[in-house]
Amino acid sequence: MKKITYILFLVLSMVLYSCSEGDQLEVEPEVPENPQQPDAPNENGDEEGNNTSPTGRSLIAYYSWSGNSRGFAQILHNLTGAEIVEVTMTNPYSATTDQQLYSIATAELNRIDRDGVYPAINTVIESLEAYDTVFLLTPLWHARMSTPMQSFLYSHAEKLAGKRLALIITSASSGVSQVMADARRLCPNSILTNELWINYAAMNGDITALITNWLLGIGVSP
Ligand SMILES: Cc1cc2nc3c(=O)[nH]c(=O)nc-3n(C[C@H](O)[C@H](O)[C@H](O)COP(=O)(O)O)c2cc1C
Repeated sequence: MKKITYILFLVLSMVLYSCSEGDQLEVEPEVPENPQQPDAPNENGDEEGNNTSPTGRSLIAYYSWSGNSRGFAQILHNLTGAEIVEVTMTNPYSATTDQQLYSIATAELNRIDRDGVYPAINTVIESLEAYDTVFLLTPLWHARMSTPMQSFLYSHAEKLAGKRLALIITSASSGVSQVMADARRLCPNSILTNELWINYAAMNGDITALITNWLLGIGVSP
């Protein structure tokens, strides 16, 4: 009799145990009272994902005759996310080759130097005060800043006062010291960062890496 009671007790215990295991499986996983939202500010109160550059809001303004500066402007835009604007001529050049443009550019540079008259452009930026850094991309013409970019700086010089100007200059081979002198003459109250010069030899390399390193050098985190 004692043995039968013991076996009954054993079977009952096993049944009860298996029931309690099944109950546990249906228990919902514990939910924390204040779940961490993926986009919530981090412990320091910083908004994650809002990569504010130490240089503030940036604008990219470029002029390009044969496409090089346009391509670099696009790379810069992809790296920084800065807004981008093209400087366009009121009366576009009728020339179709560099050679045809040489004499036109010479005449325009002479007119700037002699009479202070700049070729007309369409590009007007009203809200320049919103930007802290303005990237300027221009080809070098006869060792000087291209005349349409000179027009842009001439007509926006007042609004560019106190802002950082960061130039990317492209040429076949000539150095850019006179282009920087043009920038200083046109915007004497702006702050010029170190420029980036991209000549034809540099174009065979990794332009994105070149621009990235330059950005880091002037304190802009791509
Ligand atoms: C009118 C004109 C003048 C130029 N003068 C020079 C020059 O003095 N030295 C030089 O190395 N390249 C010179 N170049 C070559 C351009 O600087 C070079 O092709 C540049 O990459 C063009 O840029 P873009 O394609 O954005 O217009 C000249 C090109 C043109 C159209």
